[in-house]
Amino acid sequence: LKVDASGNQHPTIPSTLFGVFFEEINHAGAGGLWAELVRNRGFEAGGGVAPSNIYPWNVIGDERAVKVATEPTSCFANNKMALRVDVMCDGASCPAGGAGIVNPGYWGMNIQQGKSYKLVFYLRSIGPVDLTVVLIGFNRTKKLAAQNVGGAFTGWTKREVVFKPIMSDPNASLAITSSHKTVVWFDQISLMPLDTYKGHGFRADLAQMVADLKPGFIRFPGGCFVEGAWLRNAVRWKETVGPWENRPGHFGDVWNYWTDDGMGLYEFYQFAEDIGALPIWVFNNGISHTDEVDTTMIGPFIQEALDGIQFAVGPVTSTWGGLRAAMGHPKPFDLRYVAVGNEDCGKEHYRGNYLKFYYAIKSVFPNIKVISNCDYTDPSTPTQDPADYYDYHKYTTASDMFRLRHQFDTVPRTGPKAFVSEYAVWREDAGLGSLKAALAEAGFLMGLEKNRMAAYAPLFVNANDRKWSPDAINFDSYRAYGTPSYWMQTFFSQSNGAALLNATLDGRSSAHLAASAIIRSDPATGNSYLTVKVVNVADDPIDIKIDITGANIDSRFVSKKTEMTYGGDVMAENTFDEPLKVDLNRDNFVI
Ligand code: AHR
Repeated sequence: LKVDASGNQHPTIPSTLFGVFFEEINHAGAGGLWAELVRNRGFEAGGGVAPSNIYPWNVIGDERAVKVATEPTSCFANNKMALRVDVMCDGASCPAGGAGIVNPGYWGMNIQQGKSYKLVFYLRSIGPVDLTVVLIGFNRTKKLAAQNVGGAFTGWTKREVVFKPIMSDPNASLAITSSHKTVVWFDQISLMPLDTYKGHGFRADLAQMVADLKPGFIRFPGGCFVEGAWLRNAVRWKETVGPWENRPGHFGDVWNYWTDDGMGLYEFYQFAEDIGALPIWVFNNGISHTDEVDTTMIGPFIQEALDGIQFAVGPVTSTWGGLRAAMGHPKPFDLRYVAVGNEDCGKEHYRGNYLKFYYAIKSVFPNIKVISNCDYTDPSTPTQDPADYYDYHKYTTASDMFRLRHQFDTVPRTGPKAFVSEYAVWREDAGLGSLKAALAEAGFLMGLEKNRMAAYAPLFVNANDRKWSPDAINFDSYRAYGTPSYWMQTFFSQSNGAALLNATLDGRSSAHLAASAIIRSDPATGNSYLTVKVVNVADDPIDIKIDITGANIDSRFVSKKTEMTYGGDVMAENTFDEPLKVDLNRDNFVI
């Protein structure tokens, strides 16, 4: 491997080269990054798709003790369903601890001693009530924290309780009970840890894992999630902003689960800012997996997109900039990119709709970069339409992914640039996230270092309900680990903004190798660091001689980050029990 560091004319890798793609898939947001512990907090699940339901709420007590019914009597105009609870038992006829309702969150609530949790809920009652709100451990055997809420709530009333648990349980539930005969309505019940990432409501460990990738950008909120199987179920950003209690929530019919939309457009922009990544907002362009809006009628969708951009960057005096300010962020968010739809190139109305979006956005927000879906399957035929970038998605085998490392070398250097906004090795080469997949992806990314934007997909999976595999970060209510593909990406976080050196492989085995070399300066030390990355996808070890010219290397600072013998189980995966079995960024990793 010959690395040429001579001269100072090396191309600079854009600071947005490596980023992440967040999609509301696999409970990534609701039940994941968004730290809300109550699931279906407004009793609206089902929404317009199916009759509203209270899953996963359940009752405590048999049919003689308690009955519940959803009724459209809430004080919140956008989500009318409230839960009526009739406690019919009294005193000794009630179960121990009372009868009522219970919510297990997303496969258990992680309640930890030493932390604080804030419960907010709305209630109304016939006559006085004497309720117990309680965090209970797995199997309802232990009380982790409890408080009484009493009074006559003849009109809808908001109550807040802060819990300081005396015990920990990652599988806890929230219960609200009464030991007296009573009729009470509940709505918008939220339980959040007070300790969230930067105080903005994000689950701290998961947010930190994303931040540790040092992504230059974050694309959100989908993916297919943006499109919907049907337009009527696609995410509409205006329903995800404003006070959380008044967000209707919606049923994501591609990944088949309800989201309360606690993590709405504002929270996405906030998260991007919190991790120092540029937001890339994907909006629906009037096209779902099944139905499409004709180009002649696309006007309202265009206005919705323009309003969404105004929400991010508009002045506080504008309608939507004003809402952003009211939500706590008067300063504009740093939105520079938007994507018109997802994987819709080739659909009947895509091109017509796209052009209308493009010209409308450029006329109102000329500095916003517009990303086209064409052609997301084939970089050799990028769009002929005006665009700043075109999306490209690739899910494939390990050998194909490695082969594709050269595919962008020959695409036109003028016109729209490629944005590899989703890539991953999947299926039999990947399992739930294998070393083999990560190595092939590393080769692919080395090819992209020559000026492409790229993000792995999907980012998150709640292991209790996998909708798609593999995913970079696996989690449950209290644990999280990175797959080998996650650790592989940490190698590339240093590439953003670095200088790319000429690195050439030569020799018999070079077809099985990919290599790259960068120089980056570290503002903290003032030193410049030369990093050489090499990946070997052959079945056997390969000895590599690395020849570096043109650099004064201080041998005291030479470190070999990873030493890997590629003769073991290339299908090795990390798990909750062995989260660092394959940690590619560990010194002297040997398999
Ligand atoms: O990443 C999972 C899905 O793959 C995305 O939602 C979609 O864009 C692609 O087909």
